[in-house]
Amino acid sequence: MTDLQTTFETAVAGLDAQQLRRQRRVVSPLGGGRLEADGHPRLAFANNDYLGLAQHPALIEAAQRGAARWGVGATASPTLGGHSPAHEALEQALARFVGLPRALYFYAGYAANAGVLPALVERGDALIADALNHACLIDGARLSRAELHVVPHNDLAALEAALVATQGARRRLVAADAVFSMDGDLAPLPEMLALCERHDAWLYVDDAHGFGVLGKGGRGSLSHWGLDPARLPSRLIYMATLGKAAGVAGAFVAGAPALIEWLMHKARSFFFATGAPAMVAEALLASLVVIEAEEWRRERLLALRGQLAAGLAGLPWAAPPSACAIQPLILGDNATALAVMAALDAEGLWVPAIRPPTVPEGTARLRISLSAAHSPADVARLCEALHRTARAMQA
Ligand SMILES: Cc1ncc(COP(=O)(O)O)c(C=O)c1O
Repeated sequence: MTDLQTTFETAVAGLDAQQLRRQRRVVSPLGGGRLEADGHPRLAFANNDYLGLAQHPALIEAAQRGAARWGVGATASPTLGGHSPAHEALEQALARFVGLPRALYFYAGYAANAGVLPALVERGDALIADALNHACLIDGARLSRAELHVVPHNDLAALEAALVATQGARRRLVAADAVFSMDGDLAPLPEMLALCERHDAWLYVDDAHGFGVLGKGGRGSLSHWGLDPARLPSRLIYMATLGKAAGVAGAFVAGAPALIEWLMHKARSFFFATGAPAMVAEALLASLVVIEAEEWRRERLLALRGQLAAGLAGLPWAAPPSACAIQPLILGDNATALAVMAALDAEGLWVPAIRPPTVPEGTARLRISLSAAHSPADVARLCEALHRTARAMQA
């Protein structure tokens, strides 16, 4: 063993050699989908602020009012005094919004998945996960110590085979992203729910990228698929994050009242952590109002998505169809992904290159993320720059 500095200098040099070194930029929002990164303005297709709410005046005003009323810190875990009237109102509003009986707010989506899965299943149980699930679902699955069965992406036959194979387990939980975060495609929730019903399993749905974007009034993936929450079997656990389309921070889990009561006692990331500040809850209450009222944001997103799909045609890279605000452009190796990102950067555009382990080996990509804050001219500028870059790389 050697000293820390030498050990990790070598480790980081290894990341460099594989083109896996990540750079963190110092970023200030400029509005209109733009930001200043390291002192330079950029048109960004990089974040998850799909509805453009992170700078919305109503949300900012609500946070300021919340800070003035409740202070800036929750002061304790939610079960030890960190649960304010604003948090209580938020949980009730979230449950109403998605049409499920009760909701529990977490300070982050990562914390929700890492805490909830181990509260649902444990050793002796089986957890069946889609191969492209988000890292925090994978971490939650590992923490649970349930037997993990990873099934190929969106493969219903493989899911059914896994359900049959795990019949001896005490409990079975199927967990999946509702909208896959690096691909933008959707899990077939009605069929998955029907399989869970047939094989007596539970379904945990992470709607981080569908909430606010999909469904009537932005109610998310259940609404998108026409799954009426009032008529759902009591085997669905719904989770969505609130730092993406909702523009603020945190996440919630919703479902049967007794399930939520149990999670409050057993999700370690819930009760062993200081709650989010009440001003965040106030901003989220304002966000729910805007999400529902400002339908034009979803309409704009839809129009931009169509324009982007058409504008990417003819590039030498695959652009799999997307059903939401995320459009991947698969470039293959890490070096190409970094080169395309750098070429766009030189034109004042920020589109992040996503590399393994976030995506499978050999599928490094640009993750183009649209927002209602973008204009058609912004999308046209991106498409033109991509075509120019492709021509230059082929020359
Ligand atoms: C599908 C999915 N679930 C959960 C998370 C984690 O949520 P949070 O950023 O609130 O921790 C993310 C991304 O951040 C995600 O893409």
